[in-house]
Amino acid sequence: MDRKQNLNRAETFSFVNPWIRYFLFFFSFLFWVFSLLIVAIGVYAKVQKATDTVRDTFLIDPAVILIVVGVVMFFITFCGCIGALRENIRLLKTFSFSLTLVFLTQLAIAILGFFYSEQTRDALGKFVKKAIVHYRDDLDLQNLMDYIQKEFKCCGWNNYTDWSWNLYFNCTHENPSSERCAVPYSCCTPVPGEAVLNTMCGFGVQTQNYLEANKSIYPVGCADKAVIWIESHLLLVGALALGLALPQIAGIVLSQILISQIQDEITSVL
Ligand SMILES: *[C@@H]1O[C@H](CO)[C@@H](O)[C@H](O)[C@H]1NC(C)=O
Ligand SMILES: *[C@@H]1O[C@H](CO)[C@@H](O)[C@H](O)[C@H]1NC(C)=O
Repeated sequence: MDRKQNLNRAETFSFVNPWIRYFLFFFSFLFWVFSLLIVAIGVYAKVQKATDTVRDTFLIDPAVILIVVGVVMFFITFCGCIGALRENIRLLKTFSFSLTLVFLTQLAIAILGFFYSEQTRDALGKFVKKAIVHYRDDLDLQNLMDYIQKEFKCCGWNNYTDWSWNLYFNCTHENPSSERCAVPYSCCTPVPGEAVLNTMCGFGVQTQNYLEANKSIYPVGCADKAVIWIESHLLLVGALALGLALPQIAGIVLSQILISQIQDEITSVL
């Protein structure tokens, strides 16, 4: 009787904690599905896109970035998923190693971005300048600039006169465009109780000084507004960074625990 019980216990006892194993499996599975979604969105954006101005603006096509991130994530989460399910040490080690690599890369980028904030700002400024130059050539860039200016209540990168970078809005006398010296409608401050939107409210504002322009548009550049936004939303920025880092750290720790449990299991059998 006693002996039989002992035997039973020996058969059912396992060093591998099923909770950790299934949690890692489920968790990897969720992100695996999510990675498929990212790839799908990237491919869709790539197929939809007829012109290439967005790619030229950002050096690399954002759709390609989505596809690459999605594919890398697909392989990493696949290793975690199947590694946990089959208790496969090699897959779990691959998962843990790649996740550590990704985590350290992100950490390095964040630290560099923080210490080289001046250079980060200049690099971002170059992208925004290109987006302003190609504002009328590409609907995506136009939507992006409009979105940024409306959300951050700003105009241009340094200030509203940056719109002279664009051929249509350029404020030189020789410019034959009907929008000479104007800024896009997305710079305009909303007028309360206005029945019909005045889409021409940005016309001629580049000839006005800061105080005059301030009456119809947001004259502050988006660079300053972005800095103000980050400084007043530090808690949100921190929470986002933590939200990105925590799942990765959890994945690394859980897979390491599972690996050592599986190794204990193997040595106990031998
Ligand atoms: C706008 O920014 C540019 C570049 O920083 C600067 O030279 C110019 O004086 C600014 N204009 C106004 C009206 O603030
Ligand atoms: C506006 O156009 C003129 C003539 O093409 C050019 O010389 C000038 O640099 C442009 N302005 C800006 C701010 O790019």
